[in-house]
Amino acid sequence: MGRHNEREKVRFQEYNDEYISAKYLDWDSNFFGVSSGKVILKQGLEGYDLPRVLELMRQFTFCTIQNTGNHPFNNAFIAGQTDAFLADINTQFVKTLKPTQGFEPSEPALLGQISDYYPKNEEIVEIAENAFVFSRFYNDEHITRLQARQLYANWVRNAFQKPNRFFITSMEKTRKVGFLLFSFETPDTIRIELLAVTDQYQNRSLGRRLMALLEEFARTRLVRQICVGTQVDNVPAINFYHKQGYMFRYGSPVYHLWSH
Ligand SMILES: CC(C)(COP(=O)(O)OP(=O)(O)OC[C@H]1O[C@@H](n2cnc3c(N)ncnc32)[C@H](O)[C@@H]1OP(=O)(O)O)[C@@H](O)C(=O)NCCC(=O)NCCS
Repeated sequence: MGRHNEREKVRFQEYNDEYISAKYLDWDSNFFGVSSGKVILKQGLEGYDLPRVLELMRQFTFCTIQNTGNHPFNNAFIAGQTDAFLADINTQFVKTLKPTQGFEPSEPALLGQISDYYPKNEEIVEIAENAFVFSRFYNDEHITRLQARQLYANWVRNAFQKPNRFFITSMEKTRKVGFLLFSFETPDTIRIELLAVTDQYQNRSLGRRLMALLEEFARTRLVRQICVGTQVDNVPAINFYHKQGYMFRYGSPVYHLWSH
């Protein structure tokens, strides 16, 4: 697949209301070499202009459709009216931080190192390349395993040296063996984007420690909640988040629609 022509973007209709949104995805279009977009169904679409929804979906060669909150009408609509297939159920978790009076961080020096504009780091890229084995992209035969793997490497590469993209890392001597990437969704909500510990170092409490550092950092910034999402078949991660005090919020089926 070649590089997708960015100027093509103007051909696509972007749309947003309280029921649906449709967006062209620059980065994905370049990565997959075909026009890619995302349509988010925010509520049940009973009574909505359904031909219009189909038009918005079919304008992209590769369209990701998210049925936020798993509305039954929308699932039936997608199954009945499109060739889309279920690629994933995105599973959302949240931890609400209780305000603690006179909070004193246990490791102010470490917390002081957590910042955005994180410098490029190939060790982190390598961890990302190897750690993520559950992904909706692995469930799609139009996407090669190599592309799916590279996707996570590119995700972190794109987060280096950027505002509002923060990294926390786990060190073994001088080597990085784990990382957590997060951003602020709003001033009082943090979203964990990626979390990974290399195979050999899993089950040694490094993941728990990364989460604990994030929580302390969040408290210093008066953050009220931390959110994280994962695939429903990433059972290890779901159990891990549960153990760290995260509550299941909702699941959203994610469909892939390819038009040729
Ligand atoms: C998920 C992950 C980050 C956990 O990190 P880790 O360092 O292996 O986990 P820890 O050793 O810190 O475990 C902390 C606690 O969670 C529990 N836990 C970890 N993995 C678990 C699993 N698969 N099932 C149940 N509990 C689990 C541990 O038993 C431990 O419990 P304890 O506090 O009673 O000792 C790591 O397994 C990983 O990198 N996975 C691959 C990448 C990934 O899928 N990331 C998440 C999606 S973005």
